[in-house]
Amino acid sequence: MATMETENKNGASKARTTEERVAQLEMLNAEALIGGGAERLAKHKEGGRLTARERLDVLLDPGSFVEMDRFVTHRSQNFGMGDKKVPGDGVITGYGRINGKLVYTYSQDFTVFGGSMSRTQANKILKVMELAMKNGAPIIGINDSGGARIQEGVEALAGYADIFLKNTLASGVVPQISAIMGPSAGGAVYSPSITDFIFMVKDTSYMFVTGPDVIKAVTHEDVTKEQLGGATAHSSKSGVAHFAANDDKHCLLLIRELLNFLPANNVDDPPVLPTADRPDRVEEALNTFIPDNPKKPYDMLELIKMTVDEGYFLEVHQHYAKNVLVGFARYNGRSVGIVANQPAVLAGCLNIEASRKAARFIRFCDAFNIPIVTFVDVPGFLPGTDQEWNGIITHGAKLLYAYAEATVPKVTIITRKNYGGAYCVMSSKHLRGDVNLAYPTAEIAVMGADGAVNIIFRDAMKKAKDPAAEKARLVADYEEKFANPYVAAELGYIDEVIEPAMTRRRIIDALEMLKNKRDTNPPKKHGNIPL
Ligand code: HXC
Repeated sequence: MATMETENKNGASKARTTEERVAQLEMLNAEALIGGGAERLAKHKEGGRLTARERLDVLLDPGSFVEMDRFVTHRSQNFGMGDKKVPGDGVITGYGRINGKLVYTYSQDFTVFGGSMSRTQANKILKVMELAMKNGAPIIGINDSGGARIQEGVEALAGYADIFLKNTLASGVVPQISAIMGPSAGGAVYSPSITDFIFMVKDTSYMFVTGPDVIKAVTHEDVTKEQLGGATAHSSKSGVAHFAANDDKHCLLLIRELLNFLPANNVDDPPVLPTADRPDRVEEALNTFIPDNPKKPYDMLELIKMTVDEGYFLEVHQHYAKNVLVGFARYNGRSVGIVANQPAVLAGCLNIEASRKAARFIRFCDAFNIPIVTFVDVPGFLPGTDQEWNGIITHGAKLLYAYAEATVPKVTIITRKNYGGAYCVMSSKHLRGDVNLAYPTAEIAVMGADGAVNIIFRDAMKKAKDPAAEKARLVADYEEKFANPYVAAELGYIDEVIEPAMTRRRIIDALEMLKNKRDTNPPKKHGNIPL
């Protein structure tokens, strides 16, 4: 049997057999695999949570995970830390596959120093992020950490800041996804918030810049961790989280689902998956789907589902700013990002939250070559002092800017109302919409007929013998002129007025026609989107 010379702990040279060396490796591996120890692992699993390693097992294809830096330990000597070293230092890093596609990942282990961020933990995370960028593959971070390693002081803060920088540099180069599966407090929240999508788990994860105790001391508000920064708060009130999962497993499976729609990087094409759904499927029900009464709402989600492959739409930000819908779907196997006004909520008006939600989604799609399909039924921007004083001008401009700068294929379908500034904003021809379609029920005007008549015929109505009858006549006139798609179609602002039943087919035709589209923006360092 082969023997090798090595050094023991005291530096003394000692001959060892290969078998002994392999056994030693096994022992070291076993030590690393138990993280903070059986007791802490058992405590961690109370309430149904998975361990850091189990999470990777669910996230990645079976047997595909390759761990890196398993034996890395921290270098701190403060507060007795020199005697407390755990292999891996509270984070498991490496790479693996999701449905056969390469991803890089890290998973913080709360059982080791509360998953806290040390200098060495940061270095491990930075290493996989660097690899993800060089090799053009998504990076998925599973966060479960008490924040900066308190014993390390500024070293830990430096580690965080280095990660923030790397997140920023990776933005728009590879998809970055964050799962929050435990605490994420203080400055630690800023790494996930730079990433493209945040997933949270109901009841077991939370994110906040300052916690309930500080809030109580400063503002005297009583609030629990869950109320303040749980998955429900962030997926419905703040919009910080894009997805709220029921438990750890659900969260990780949702990430796998999202990955199916995304390219590996910014020079890759989005995946095309086989589908049994015919590209020329005609959906007769759509011909009667839009209500006769333009004031009556309908569910745009249902309409979308009738047109996409197998009726499958992965909604992003499902519980936030519900007056606009965003998410991923496929047409004839090809990934698209869908943006749609939702007339069933706030009549589909655009407000601050909806503008921010849609703008960020559009920019993600554009960065990663995912075509954007926009369904429009919008009466305009939401009026009110609340909207104006909170900056609807700036936030609405984000949406306009996002559509205008996007160079991916853009297909627009106007189903009904398309009024005022919202007409310009919602992927109009003027913002480089490539194919703009309208239903016969489309109404493209500066505003609704009633409002328009009140403004332009105010004096005429006052002078009329029967003002009510005169108004009805003028409204009918205005509707006749503008409550249709044909004026815009005559001007070429609409490419085709389509039979609603043909929606799927026309969208697929357009995407096929646009599949080699190349368009660029003028060279610049970067634009100045109205943040
Ligand atoms: C070192 C930490 C730690 C930390 C937790 N631990 N947080 N060790 N640095 N930040 C350790 C605990 O000492 C404990 O060790 C183990 O992890 C589990 O913690 P518990 O408190 O027993 O768990 P739990 O009751 O579930 O409470 C979790 C917690 C709490 C709410 C996260 O630990 C906590 O409040 N931690 C501090 C949070 C914090 O203030 N972090 C700094 C934020 S500022 P033992 O050995 O007993 O098991 C920040 C700045 C980032 O992060 C700035 C970036 C720019």
